[in-house]
Amino acid sequence: MKTGKEFRSRFFALRPHLNYLPEGDRYLSSIDEPKYRFNVIGTGTNGQEHVSVTLLEGRATIHGVFDPNPRSIEGARRAFSPYAPQENLVVYDSLEQACRDPDVDGHIICTPNYTHIDVVRKAIKSGKHILLEKPMATTIRDAYEITQLATGYDAILQIGLQYRYKAIYVEAIYEALERKALGQIKTVSILEHRIPFFDKVNQWNKFSKYSGGTLVEKCCHYFDLLNMFAQARPVSVFATGSMAVNFVEFEYEGQKSDIIDNAMVTVIYENGIRASFNLCMFAPMFYEEIIICGDEGRLKAFENQDFMPEPRPKTYLEIMRGEQKPSRVTTPSYPTFLEEAGHSGATYFEHANFIDNIEGRETNAAKAEEGFWSIVVGVAAEESVKAGEVVNVEQLLKKNGLEL
Ligand SMILES: NC(=O)c1ccc[n+]([C@@H]2O[C@H](COP(=O)([O-])OP(=O)(O)OC[C@H]3O[C@@H](n4cnc5c(N)ncnc54)[C@H](O)[C@@H]3O)[C@@H](O)[C@H]2O)c1
Repeated sequence: MKTGKEFRSRFFALRPHLNYLPEGDRYLSSIDEPKYRFNVIGTGTNGQEHVSVTLLEGRATIHGVFDPNPRSIEGARRAFSPYAPQENLVVYDSLEQACRDPDVDGHIICTPNYTHIDVVRKAIKSGKHILLEKPMATTIRDAYEITQLATGYDAILQIGLQYRYKAIYVEAIYEALERKALGQIKTVSILEHRIPFFDKVNQWNKFSKYSGGTLVEKCCHYFDLLNMFAQARPVSVFATGSMAVNFVEFEYEGQKSDIIDNAMVTVIYENGIRASFNLCMFAPMFYEEIIICGDEGRLKAFENQDFMPEPRPKTYLEIMRGEQKPSRVTTPSYPTFLEEAGHSGATYFEHANFIDNIEGRETNAAKAEEGFWSIVVGVAAEESVKAGEVVNVEQLLKKNGLEL
């Protein structure tokens, strides 16, 4: 009789030195046929990560790709090569063709932010599962339209807010929200210090009209986390920020870049929780940190990649609970091969959750509504930077024709 979950290892399944084993003798290292076939729409940096992580996860494969840039298609082929022969990869001529393909179970949409709304409008007509990259849209109206399209949609529509699956945040979510190790949460602060935005096809991420602005494009991940830890709706947002160092001189096809590279954001939630976010995008590292204070303790966690030769801890999480309860210091992590697959392993677990979601298991994957609220805070913060004033979220929604 089988009890519990059987142990199978993707690490061993993918080791070429085990290929000598007859198929019937592979148990621990068994390679099951993928059950699902996905298309990747947009195969730039992120689309290529989705190709390789789909194959690494193994319950699905990539059936086809659509991207107008031939070099991005070549990139998708390269992402295939460590895992599977890619001769059968279908390369579509149009989005419509990709959406019509009856052999496909789902679409992974990783096109530039401003294109998401049009791609989703078409992809959703296919009735297939959708994993839509963050930010789900660049405006509140478009984000709301997607939540409406998702309501009553029979298939899965999951938003790519996958920082939730980074090891430090998985542990923080467990401690703060499930175990309630900190008592009642009162304040949450997140900091991200990192290198500038990378080059992109047509440099769409250097322009607010294409990306939604830095606080929507990148920071929706952190606003999603703040919203999650607050477990309440945001009431008001105040932000300051500027274009201090990056892309100050940058022009593309006659247009000057207009994205901010540093910001301080404060969010007040309707249950009184205060949250803050501190961004600097001209730091020579990737460093993010969260501090959550409750009435019974304080949690601090960080993830650090600083490219220095002397190894230092890449992650850290402490829970301090004073004289009443045990405190703890840990270094949350995943196996190296999963972390190296992208975003410290978060992309792998995003895919695992996408498939679990498709199979009807309960997950903590981001729903369209959660994607929407991450955009609301991001847009409010962008507007606050421009206006130099506190943005009231209800009024912002009303301005966008919404009374929620
Ligand atoms: N979840 C994350 O942490 C994460 C990380 C990186 C990027 N992203 C998101 O992924 C998306 C893509 O970002 P990227 O870094 O890969 O950008 P990129 O510029 O590297 O790639 C975008 C690709 O989309 C293609 N494209 C443009 N318009 C298209 C269309 N209408 N149909 C099909 N393909 C189209 C481009 O040719 C390009 O190959 C963005 O929404 C971005 O915010 C998410």
